[in-house]
Formats: sequence, C-alpha cells, structure tokens
Amino acid sequence: MCGIVVYGRRGGSGAPALVLEGLKKLEYRGYDSWGIAALDRKGRISVMRRVGKIGGANAAAVSRRLGSGSVAMGHTRWATHGGISERNAHPHLDCTGRIAVVHNGIIENYQELKSGLLARKHRFSSETDTEILAHYIEEGMSRGQSFQQATRSIAKRLSGRSAFVALDSKSGQVIAVRLGAPLIVGIGKGGELFVSSDINGFLEHTNKVMYIDDNQMALLSFGKRAARLPAFFNVSTGARVRKRIVAIDWKRSDEGKSGYDHFLIKEIMEQKHTIAQAINQDDATVRRAANRIRNAFGVFIVGAGTAGRACVAGEYLFSNIAKKHVNSAVASEFGHYKHYLTKRTLMIAVSQSGETVDLLDAIDVAKSKGSRILSLINVFGSTMMRVSDDFFMLNAGAEKAVASTKATTAQLSLLTLLAYATAGRLKEGKRLLLNTAEQVNDMLNPRYEERIRRLAKRLRSQRDIFVIGRGVNYPMAEEAAIKLQETSYIHAHGFAGGELKHGPLALIGKGSPCIALVANDGSKREMISNAMEVKARGGYIIGVAPENNEVFDYWLRVPDAGEASPIVNIIPVQILAYHLAVMRGINPDYPRNLAKSVTVK
Ligand code: M6R
Repeated sequence: MCGIVVYGRRGGSGAPALVLEGLKKLEYRGYDSWGIAALDRKGRISVMRRVGKIGGANAAAVSRRLGSGSVAMGHTRWATHGGISERNAHPHLDCTGRIAVVHNGIIENYQELKSGLLARKHRFSSETDTEILAHYIEEGMSRGQSFQQATRSIAKRLSGRSAFVALDSKSGQVIAVRLGAPLIVGIGKGGELFVSSDINGFLEHTNKVMYIDDNQMALLSFGKRAARLPAFFNVSTGARVRKRIVAIDWKRSDEGKSGYDHFLIKEIMEQKHTIAQAINQDDATVRRAANRIRNAFGVFIVGAGTAGRACVAGEYLFSNIAKKHVNSAVASEFGHYKHYLTKRTLMIAVSQSGETVDLLDAIDVAKSKGSRILSLINVFGSTMMRVSDDFFMLNAGAEKAVASTKATTAQLSLLTLLAYATAGRLKEGKRLLLNTAEQVNDMLNPRYEERIRRLAKRLRSQRDIFVIGRGVNYPMAEEAAIKLQETSYIHAHGFAGGELKHGPLALIGKGSPCIALVANDGSKREMISNAMEVKARGGYIIGVAPENNEVFDYWLRVPDAGEASPIVNIIPVQILAYHLAVMRGINPDYPRNLAKSVTVK
C-alpha cells in the first residue's frame, strides 16, 4: 500500500520524470492520489500533488512544473490518515520547506507525537500522520542535530509498521528508513541511486540492489560530499551496517496490456499458461518440501484475502490427497494460534506480493516460536522471500490488477502439487495439473467468454449474488464472492452449500442469482440438492460444473479436473466478475478503496 520512488544522481538531470516513470509501475500499490518533490538547482524543494491515478500523468507536465533537477522523490497513495485530497497527498514538508517526506504504512502513535508539535506551534498543512516526520526532523535540526541524527531520533519513536524517506534540500541528502514496511535501494550506472517500495520502481534501470532490513536506514548523498554508495545504519543504535550489492535475476515479464482493454482480463487469459508455469518446479526441491510437511508436528497454511481462500482449499487438498491434517488460518488472526507453535511446526505462507503486512506479522509470530517458514510467493526479492527458510516462486508473472486471478490459480496449483508430493505421488500430481492446464487453455476461448458476457448482462443490475460450494469448492465459493465484490461492487456472499438452511436461505427470493460450484466428486449430489433448495425458493441457479443438470438455469461448463476442480471452477467466475465490472462502468483493474499490496494492518 502506497508506493515510494526516489531517484538521484549528483550533477544529473531528469529526476522528476524518472520518478514519475517509476511511480507508474507502482500504481497498483495505491492510486487515490500522487505527488513528487524535486530539488532544483538552487537547492529548493518544489512539490506537485494531484488527486487520482498517476497512470495518466504526463512527464512533460511534471518536468515543466518541477524542472529537470538531479534529485526527486515521489509517492502514490492509498489513504489511511486524512481523506483523499491534494493537501493530504505526499510529499509533505516541514514549516520551513527544507525537509520533504514520503511515507508508507501507519504511525500508530502519531496523535501523541502530533500533539507535542502542535503545542510547540508547528503549522500543519495536511491531516496525515506522515507530516509529523518532517516537523520532527525540522525540530531536531533546529536544536543542532544533523539531518541523520534528527531522522534517526524520530524514527526510533515511531510505533507501527512503516517506511519513510526524507529529503534535506540543504545537504542534498536522502534518508530511507525501514520500520517493517518494504524499501529497497537500487544501484544504477554512473552514480545513479534509487529507492523504491519494490524493485518494480526501478528494475527498468538496474537489477543491482542493496536491501534495507527492518530497523535500518540508508543515507544517500547527492550534495557536495556525494558518495557512490549509500551508507547503512541501525536505527536503534546508530551503528554502521555493512551491506552487499545483490544482483536480482528477475526478468520483467510483459507488463503492458498486450492488446486487452484491462490488466484483469489479460491476467485471466494468461491462466492458459500460468498453471503449467506454477508447477514447473525442481522435483527434488518439491520432494524435500513434501518431506518437511510430512514430518512436521503441526502444519499451518496461512494467507490473507484471496490467498487466504487458497489456503483453506489447501487444507482440503492435503486432507483429500495426502490424508494429512494441515490447518489453514487467516493471516490477521494467526496470532491466536501461537500457543500451538513449536520448533517442529511448519508454516506455509501463501502470498502474491510477499509483502502483506498481516502475513508478515503471522510469520514473525511463527519465527518467534522457532517454527520453519515455507513461502509460496509471486514477487521475487519480496520481504517474505527474504524472511522465509524456503520458498517457491509462483511463476505467474507480474499481476497488476488488484483482483488476484492468475496468482490464485498458481497458488492452488502449487498447493495441489505439494499435496500430491506429500502423498508420495508427485508424478501423478504433475500429470493431473498439466492436463488441467491444457483443459483451461481450451476453455478460455472467445465463445466461452461470450457466454459468460451474456450472463453478466442478465446479472448486471442485481443487488446480491450468492455462491455455494462444498468440500474444496467451499473456499472457492468465498473466493468467487470476493471477486464479484471487488470488481463489480455487487454484494456477493459465498458459503458452504450445507450452511444454506442455517440462515442464508432466508435471503433467497424470486430471481435471486445463486452460483453453484459443482465438482464431479463425493459432494456432487449434495451440491445439486442445495441448488434445488435455492431454486425451490425462486432462486436463479448458475451451475459451474462439468455436466449440465436440470436444476441449472444457466450452465457454465468446466472440465472435469478431479482434485484440480477449484482451479477450473473459479475461472468462469473471474470472467463474470470482469464483465460485470465493465458493464457497470467500473474500472476492473482499480477497485475503489483497495490496493494491490496491503502493507497496513
Ligand atoms: O499479495 P497477497 O497475495 O498476500 O495479498 C493478499 C490479499 O490482499 C489479496 O489476495 C486480496 O484479497 C485481493 N484483492 C484479492 O483479489
């Protein structure tokens, strides 16, 4: 949530335009407003802030407004403290205009910190928690502290997970502080330095990075005493920290829309390939992971949101395929399990971004008990990759739309593969998933999409949509509801078919749409009975199933994928969610109030 990009080179030029370009790559992290601060040749800071997405911002207009200086920093915002307005967009300045700051995360004790500043007559221009940082640095420096000392002093006092970057116009120095939210330094050519919330902010220019770890700060100098490399310090002690330059071996996948109108539909269609890519793993590594799962005393699969639904599906998959009991848990609730964690516990952490703060907190809990962490992630170099003992890449390529699709089916594929490997049937699992990948390839054709579009037309004015599933398709019903909510803004509710009679049936009336996710497994008969119960009360049944059934008013055929049914059953709902959004005039890539990478609690 919130993207930060900084660029600087002593004697260089074009910094604002480079920052703009980097921020556009991070737009998925937040898109309610954006801003850039640049240092001009006379050593003054100019700031430009705008409400709305940065995607449409024009480089020429930014350069006209901010000049073409050698140092700039920018921010794309997902509002936490203070409404969405130009004055609340970052960067923020101190009272004198000497210090500029951008910030990601939340300063939990900001009210208490702000009241001290107000008592000392600091003037605030925004309602953000961020602005206090600029004023505290100003105050420290007015008391004789250096920029570095003043920045460290306030950094030490912050509670909550965050990251911020401060720019001092007088010295031309930039300090990047990491306190639980991601920040990474990029080392470019000819003295170019970058800072970004993730490597996408500068990967076009360099793949050489220096990681800022938690509770560390990096000092970048672009003024008279410019140094080629940043200096790193521990925030608590101030001690110097040695760092290596690491070359990230990660090629940018095609990040454009490849002729599609939106990233969401492009990414849905990419599932023709991504299922096979996800299971393209080294057999020996998969077997080693399976051994750990088999021998662990307690396995927890943990994720948030959609990834969390994949984790619940994982619990069923391990039970069905490997007869192994694993527990799934929602990342934000994981702390409650801490009493059951030991050195012999294995946590499987599942995430697209590898930066979700609730999951990072859950990992901290598990690590504090000595448990081992195996991550399934899509972003190379992410925090989760670095804090885990072992990891598998999902290999889905960049996922830009906020609504997760191809990363989800990659997670399901990898969990299915691990379940098969745990059962000692890795080859069989691979065969099944490769076959499923081929079936998905056939399914994703224009005629199929058109059939779903026709369904979307019928549903576009609905107020509620219900989704039911059983067994491993129960969490998929919940996931289907998430997809519909976040793209079409239609209220959707997913639940286990058997739960209908315990409450939700009271909401069913004439024409209530109910999507039934049916698999050709032991749950089929009961699912059909549940669909009948809805139909008997006037419901309109959309069957997602390998075979048609008289209870279905509208049938969306899916391949009979056996244990891989969650993968094929969720795809038609993803397409439906996309078309509903488009028909309702919503940009499916950027749902209101949400962001791709959730780095606040
Ligand atoms: O990056 P992660 O997979 O850890 O993200 C977890 C959730 O924030 C994410 O799945 C969210 O629920 C998506 N909006 C779902 O489409």
